[in-house]
Amino acid sequence: MYTVAVINQKGGVGKTVTTVNLAAALKHKGHDPLVVDYDSQMNATDWLMGREATEDDATIFDSLAAWDGENADERTFANIFRSSDTVGIDFIPSDRRMAAASFDAVIGRSAVFPQQFRSRIQEFRTAEVQRNSSSPKNHDYCVIDCPPSLGRSIATALAGADGIIVPIHADRFSMRGVSQLQETIKQIRKVHNDSLRILGLLPNDLDLRSGMVSDMQEKFENIYSDILFDTFIPWRSKINEVATHGKNIMEYEGASDAASRYLDLAHEVVERSRVATAA
Ligand SMILES: Nc1ncnc2c1ncn2[C@@H]1O[C@H](COP(=O)(O)OP(=O)(O)OP(=O)(O)O)[C@@H](O)[C@H]1O
Ligand SMILES: [Mg+2]
Repeated sequence: MYTVAVINQKGGVGKTVTTVNLAAALKHKGHDPLVVDYDSQMNATDWLMGREATEDDATIFDSLAAWDGENADERTFANIFRSSDTVGIDFIPSDRRMAAASFDAVIGRSAVFPQQFRSRIQEFRTAEVQRNSSSPKNHDYCVIDCPPSLGRSIATALAGADGIIVPIHADRFSMRGVSQLQETIKQIRKVHNDSLRILGLLPNDLDLRSGMVSDMQEKFENIYSDILFDTFIPWRSKINEVATHGKNIMEYEGASDAASRYLDLAHEVVERSRVATAA
């Protein structure tokens, strides 16, 4: 299972739409993705479950918090993941306690937290391979929807990830944010996870009629040509619609330009993750 975290410290750049639509596109191409909602805002949870998580739902927080407690085995990813009735994708819900402040208050031992997520991912991988020894394809991608921050909870998610996708707006501030992000990734690699790679930057929400956007795109291509995806996602009302109505873009708008962009992205993600895994 290749694990990819969708991150950007800026809010509203399209992390959640990228996570869910990429997962839908991977599924459409015959893969079996697992979405992990890592954000206390629960947007991906709401999309996939049709509601926010309550105390009765086992969430990513429960799994991490229970890591070495009495009920550790009940809270493995294999035990808590569920399937979205509406979108047809497996996922692990988030809850409010994933906010950084609660992390520290509830867990009180954040220094070891990154290791816990990494271990849960590895444990899940092993359990799946054992369960499906004749068909190891099950859950071949894990896509993590991260909160808009570069704080400690991000460090935790990245400690368990193989690759990173960065949805990004084509503006000057977003461009500045990339170097900050690269610095964080360097630190994570040093301390927690030296195999972490940037899979790609994904320009998102582009207004193709604006001349400024093509100027910024050119700048992106000059500076980040090595990490930029060939695919980019324009502003499309369909993208907003599927997010708002909690739909699967491939089923709801399969013939749309938006859907075909996510299929292109899925293709690139598969190619790049194969190269990264082989390296
Ligand atoms: N390409 C696009 N076309 C149209 N609407 C888009 C596009 N990308 C994102 N949006 C819309 O922009 C809003 C923000 O997107 P999204 O929630 O995915 O951002 P985010 O980075 O996850 O935000 P946060 O940082 O709060 O988690 C949503 O209403 C979404 O539907
Ligand atoms: Mg989001």
